[in-house]
Amino acid sequence: MGKNATRLELLGEVDVAYAALDAKNYAKRIGFTAKDQYLISTAVSELARNIVTYASKGCIFLSTIEQDFKKGIEVVADDSGPGIQDLEKAMLDNFSSRGTLGVGLPGTKRLMDDFQISSSSAKGTRITVRKWL
Ligand SMILES: Nc1ncnc2c1ncn2[C@@H]1O[C@H](COP(=O)(O)OP(=O)(O)OP(=O)(O)O)[C@@H](O)[C@H]1O
Ligand SMILES: [Mg+2]
Repeated sequence: MGKNATRLELLGEVDVAYAALDAKNYAKRIGFTAKDQYLISTAVSELARNIVTYASKGCIFLSTIEQDFKKGIEVVADDSGPGIQDLEKAMLDNFSSRGTLGVGLPGTKRLMDDFQISSSSAKGTRITVRKWL
């Protein structure tokens, strides 16, 4: 995680909307275009909604990252929920365990530049995504 991460706590549906808005403003401050702000905000909204839906609660951390003269945003979505049983399946378009569209995770991967996921029933789920300016 980048240093000085901003921590957003997710306890319910209303926090999903706040997280999306906070992410948009954070991306704007880093210098992302209006279009990228929107894409980042959408990705955060999907990750936040999954946390509230499947793990009840968790956190999202926003931080600014730098690498090889590049600058970007890192979003870490962290929960101590039940974990994702089958990661490969969860990353397929239209796979959903609750009968919705099932594009949240694959869509988020497409919106961002880097996507990493680690999940287990013991530790819960941590998804790290990054987008570069
Ligand atoms: N934080 C999480 N903890 C546990 N399981 C998760 C978590 N996030 C996703 N999953 C599992 O991965 C599946 C795929 O997630 P994804 O967001 O792609 O689709 P969805 O949430 O089912 O549908 P949509 O996001 O389109 O409403 C979910 O159905 C759920 O089983
Ligand atoms: Mg989802």
